[in-house]
Amino acid sequence: MTRMKVLSLLLLLYVGISSAFPVDPEKEDEGKNIDLVETYLQNFYNLEKDHRPHLRKGGKNHLAEKLKEMQEFFGLQVTGKPDHDTLEMMNKPRCGVPDVEQYVFTTGNPKWKKNNLTYRIVNYTRKMRQTDVDAAIQKALNVWSSVTPLTFQKTKDKIADIMISFEYRDHKDNSPFDGPDGQLAHAFQPGEGLGGDVHLDDEEAWTKDGRGYNLFIVVAHELGHSLGLSHSNDPGALMYPNYAYTDPKEFRLPQDDIDGIQAIYGQSNDAVQPTGPTTPQACDPNLTFDAITTLRGEMMFFKGRYMLRKHPERSETELNFISLFWPNLPSGIQAAYENIERDEILLFKGNEDKYWVVRGYDIAYGYPKPIYRLGFPKTVKRVNAAYSDETTGKTYFFVADRYWRYDENKKSMDHGYPRKIIQDFGKIGRVDAVFQKDGYVYFFHGTTQFQFDPRAKRIVNQMKSISWFNC
Ligand SMILES: *[C@@H]1O[C@H](CO)[C@@H](O)[C@H](O)[C@H]1NC(C)=O
Ligand SMILES: *[C@@H]1O[C@H](CO)[C@@H](O)[C@H](O)[C@H]1NC(C)=O
Ligand SMILES: *[C@@H]1O[C@H](CO)[C@@H](O)[C@H](O)[C@H]1NC(C)=O
Ligand SMILES: [Zn+2]
Ligand SMILES: [Zn+2]
Repeated sequence: MTRMKVLSLLLLLYVGISSAFPVDPEKEDEGKNIDLVETYLQNFYNLEKDHRPHLRKGGKNHLAEKLKEMQEFFGLQVTGKPDHDTLEMMNKPRCGVPDVEQYVFTTGNPKWKKNNLTYRIVNYTRKMRQTDVDAAIQKALNVWSSVTPLTFQKTKDKIADIMISFEYRDHKDNSPFDGPDGQLAHAFQPGEGLGGDVHLDDEEAWTKDGRGYNLFIVVAHELGHSLGLSHSNDPGALMYPNYAYTDPKEFRLPQDDIDGIQAIYGQSNDAVQPTGPTTPQACDPNLTFDAITTLRGEMMFFKGRYMLRKHPERSETELNFISLFWPNLPSGIQAAYENIERDEILLFKGNEDKYWVVRGYDIAYGYPKPIYRLGFPKTVKRVNAAYSDETTGKTYFFVADRYWRYDENKKSMDHGYPRKIIQDFGKIGRVDAVFQKDGYVYFFHGTTQFQFDPRAKRIVNQMKSISWFNC
């Protein structure tokens, strides 16, 4: 994939506070795009259409109030002003359903009064094969039927509970589509007529994979509305308003959405109730990490399909999908380290005994490669954690209760390894994650963190794993 393509994907996949890859901060102009702001707030925050915005009466600035509401929903700094982060958020492709209730729909908790629902695929897009559209919609329905008592029966009858169609611009429901990007789709809460229906913007680049907009992901989200869910402000939830790509093969319905839909329809009829991934919270004292690395002066904490990103000079911690930077990388990274000299990150995925080299947004050519190519015996399938010492050019790999040392210059494992972790680093146990910063090595074991001084060759401090975040 070319860099341009990845950069444009970056804009689409972002969730969090600021989408820039860690580079020297650029000066960006804060052009006030008042049209964008007004349209966005009218569409999604119930801002009244006002044709004479300069003649507003009274002391209360309605627009600023709505802006604050929007900033609050997305976890942005609540300024009431269209600042850079706010405009960036407003430019993201998203669902056309408002984030606040009482706009198009009536209040209350709308729900279907039966569990067996019918659906009809009214028509197709020319951008995908029909069988791929059918498969995407079937998979999206399964997302919800697998966690509730609901069933979906396909029908060719004229009328079905849920009518799914591709629509163009103004399509006579008071919610015109806006062409490519912007609003991707919308859906109606349970009810007669339009109720439950899903409309997909026919001008989007619909796909069955990670290019353009993945139809499965968008339909799964819209069906949540068809069943009575509104938007969630959990950035990891399927019902978050902005589009975020997940590989359909790896998709699991997040717990936030499971809780939401089960509050309406109850649990599934299966003996074992399904559970879903939860979005990591930086200040959860129980938070543990899969892997941690420095990256151009910042710190990246990997957890499931997320990265928590911390800049040493900024107080806030940002939550991003790993796919934001590296759409083609699997989730579940188990070890990561930075080679500062070569400006590379090496990433290891558990149980796949493979590693990836990434430079900026790009996965280096020829990767992933099997880890035995680094000099591990073939019996080693999984690296738990790794860090590289910039001054000596030595990289340390932690595997169960042992560690290997690798020479980055000679590109080979040093002799005399593996050694026991306890012998050289102390009573840490299994290492979940490790990184080096300002001469110290920080080891993570569960919710505990050990600060190791390589000069004194001993642990000098013990903290909570989340101590890097301002909690
Ligand atoms: C709903 O569908 C399920 C599974 O197909 C079936 O067992 C059940 O009898 C149906 N219920 C009604 C009310 O039709
Ligand atoms: C699909 O059907 C709907 C409803 O009849 C119609 O409004 C829309 O234009 C059709 N879309 C396409 C792509 O033909
Ligand atoms: C942390 O885990 C403990 C033990 O599982 C649990 O009792 C506690 O509620 C958790 N705390 C938070 C904030 O989730
Ligand atoms: Zn939506
Ligand atoms: Zn519509």
